Amino acid sequence: MDEGLIPSPLIRDDEIFLRMNLAERIQHILLIATFTTLIITGLPLVLYEMKIFKALFAFEKAFYIRGILHRLAAVIMIVNILWHIAYSLFTRRGRNNFKELMPKFKDAKDAFQVFWHNIGLTGFLYKKGIFKACFDKHPYWLFKEEPEFGRYNFIEKFEYLGVAWGSLVMIISGFFMWNVELSLKFFPLWVHDIFIIIHGYEAILAFLTIIIWHMYNVHLNPEVFPMSKVWLNGKITSHELRTLHPLEYKKIAEERVRASAKAAEVK
Ligand code: HEM
Repeated sequence: MDEGLIPSPLIRDDEIFLRMNLAERIQHILLIATFTTLIITGLPLVLYEMKIFKALFAFEKAFYIRGILHRLAAVIMIVNILWHIAYSLFTRRGRNNFKELMPKFKDAKDAFQVFWHNIGLTGFLYKKGIFKACFDKHPYWLFKEEPEFGRYNFIEKFEYLGVAWGSLVMIISGFFMWNVELSLKFFPLWVHDIFIIIHGYEAILAFLTIIIWHMYNVHLNPEVFPMSKVWLNGKITSHELRTLHPLEYKKIAEERVRASAKAAEVK
């Protein structure tokens, strides 16, 4: 793991910080449970040709039970989202998390920087002596360093907004699929058909995003491999904070400097 910032003398390297409190961990676990259930009970309708789904629903009544489970998981998912909205509105920590999760111009800059850092093209050109004078004058364009992230990096923000947007789409389309008569009272049949198409394709998109992107970021990424345990115990070490979220680490260090200066004044 990259060693990141120079440690602050006011923060022990084995100090533990709370990254996800109990309410946030329960919301996350409910999201995992409901999303997994919705995928398992929804995708067989889209990918009905696949052997695995045929096997899963081989016994009689299996399809009926699947429908019940899908609706039950949908209701729990909606209640969980309402809880999360209330938590983000009415608790100080929730409001702060939400504020920190909102994208800023820096996130676009960070994504750009990470992309070119990972590609390594400008470093390669520099080594070959191509545009050397230009890179010497503007070393930023070599993208030698990765950007420093705050409490949430651009990937985490993008995932959060993706879940918010995806849930809204699934809830609206799913609601009208559940209440066909109501849907046909308000919309022509072709709109209802579009709800079904959107619901199916958005499910595949969400499934792939979670399997490929989220699982990479929280499991396979060498910086956290084999797994970040934050979702289970909520804890992050000061070392992890310093390397993965250096701007948040700096903020805490500065707060401590201010607090100790104040304490010295009082003495
Ligand atoms: C992330 C969440 C969700 C996923 C991944 C998901 C996935 C799916 C999929 C793949 C289908 C099959 C679509 C097709 O036939 O082409 C489906 C059907 C359906 N979904 Fe969802 N869904 C989700 C959320 C919801 C919600 C929130 C509701 C209700 C408000 C809902 C209600 C329905 C209904 C009524 C059907 C019709 C088929 C059935 O009887 O189960 N879904 N869902």
